[in-house]
Amino acid sequence: MARRPGLRRVVLVGGGVVVAAFLAIQLVPYGWSHPNPPVVRDAPWPDEESAAIARTSCYDCHSNETDWPAYSYVAPMSWLVRSDVEEGRDELNLSDWDADADEADDAAEEVEEGSMPPSQYTRIHRDARLTDDERATLVAALEQMAGDDG
Ligand code: HEC
Repeated sequence: MARRPGLRRVVLVGGGVVVAAFLAIQLVPYGWSHPNPPVVRDAPWPDEESAAIARTSCYDCHSNETDWPAYSYVAPMSWLVRSDVEEGRDELNLSDWDADADEADDAAEEVEEGSMPPSQYTRIHRDARLTDDERATLVAALEQMAGDDG
């Protein structure tokens, strides 16, 4: 008659499977590289304040000056960060203004609505949260840049 495995054994085997799976996903290459290509032309922020707000709240995903956090080297977080940065740069790259100036209007809208920066990001990066004043400053700057460049 087969004996039911003891709890100790279940925990050991279960724990081993979790550790093995964690190690195995580290072998997936996606997320290994953390590219910061050269800045082509930085967005022409009208003043220091709006530039500083954007650098804190947008540049990790929307520029070539991403500050890759330690957890971005560990799967599965590395996959999420990599895909956010890839998609973010694709939509709006503040380091390549000549290519993306026409996005300024859209960016002002996203910020005004509160869709950007994304809440899953500001939950971890609390300094990237926008106060009402910061939001207004950033929206005004983006609108001005849309008028100048777009
Ligand atoms: C955590 C990364 C992250 C941060 C920080 C972030 N974004 Fe985004 N942004 C994304 C991703 C990913 C997309 C594409 C998917 C989407 O639209 O949600 C995006 C899309 C956009 C788009 C295009 C939206 C559309 O659908 O047309 C604009 C404009 C934008 N972001 C502006 C900003 C601005 C301005 C900030 C700073 C206030 C900011 N984002 C902060 C990740 C980010």
